[in-house]
Amino acid sequence: AQLNDLAVRAGLKYFGTALGEGSINSDSQYAAILSDKSMFGQLVPENGQKWDATEPSRGQFTYTQGDITANTARRNGQGMRCHTLVWYSQLPNWVNSGSWTRQTLQSVIETHISNVMGHYKGQCYAWDVVNEAINDDGTWRPSPFYNTFQTDYFAIAFNAAKRADPAAKLYYNDYNLEYNQAKTDRAVELVKIVQAAGAPIDGVGLQAHLIVGSTPSRSNLATVLRRFTALGVEVAYTELDIRHSSLPASSSALATQGNDYANVVGSCLDVAGCVGVTVWGFTDKYSWIPQTFPGTGAALIYDSNFNKKPAWTSVSSVLAAK
Ligand code: G3I
Repeated sequence: AQLNDLAVRAGLKYFGTALGEGSINSDSQYAAILSDKSMFGQLVPENGQKWDATEPSRGQFTYTQGDITANTARRNGQGMRCHTLVWYSQLPNWVNSGSWTRQTLQSVIETHISNVMGHYKGQCYAWDVVNEAINDDGTWRPSPFYNTFQTDYFAIAFNAAKRADPAAKLYYNDYNLEYNQAKTDRAVELVKIVQAAGAPIDGVGLQAHLIVGSTPSRSNLATVLRRFTALGVEVAYTELDIRHSSLPASSSALATQGNDYANVVGSCLDVAGCVGVTVWGFTDKYSWIPQTFPGTGAALIYDSNFNKKPAWTSVSSVLAAK
């Protein structure tokens, strides 16, 4: 059986993948695997719904890139996670270098959210409303939003999201939460800040951009998930990939990678309130990693020729064992 079918049988809502907008129309092997609902029950646009793609000029909304994923998911009967609304990166210049007051930036955020979420209304299981608001050392990350509002922009964004699509699950999403350090503590605080403001937050997404051999154990990962579910929100792994720090990967490194993948997926199975796992791409042919961390990579579950790797088999085994 394929991984989404196994995941659903194991009690998750989905096993999903990011869709690379540049790959889907140019690579038929890529398209065939991605379009198989038994393999991926849910898709996320890798770049197509970000602010620079959807509102490149103020008040001018374009959905061509984001609709690639929405149309693919609809055609194949797949669900969608939607990504992302308020993030410091991939912001158009007009947002980044505008000189904002609280009033003008609040209106910009609310207009962006109501338009983009309105366009995809009813199609998104979940939305990453706020993304990566915390630095790795646990301090708040500077951005036009933080610089203008400090932490008050969280409630503004989550309230606007609720008005735009009341049925979507509203998430905070970040990376390096998996290690249970200062950044995790701050993310717990973020959830509490939103809740204390009376604003709706339904979930925390753990991106899980991890490293072979340094991935936390299944039980330590489950401990982190439970810190969030204890606050009354659901959790999901939203951008899972586990990169080798040197290439090419030996067969023992590929086995370790498989073990690491199984620990991540297994921790989700261990925690009531962990709803699903999304991989950030599925083939080593295409990934953001080599550009960002040169010399590392091969982080996904199919190799660059679309053969299933040991990680694929490990994930299928851990799901089947539930
Ligand atoms: O679309 C342009 C293209 O026109 C141009 O010719 C080309 C030249 O560099 O760039 C293309 O844009 C790139 C875009 O991906 C689409 O391929 C950007 O340069 C590149 O920076 C961008 O990278 C994306 C990255 O987010 C940007 O921050 C990655 O694909 C995407 O995988 C990555 O995803 C993020 C999540 O959204 C949030 N969490 C971390 C994750 C990994 O960084």
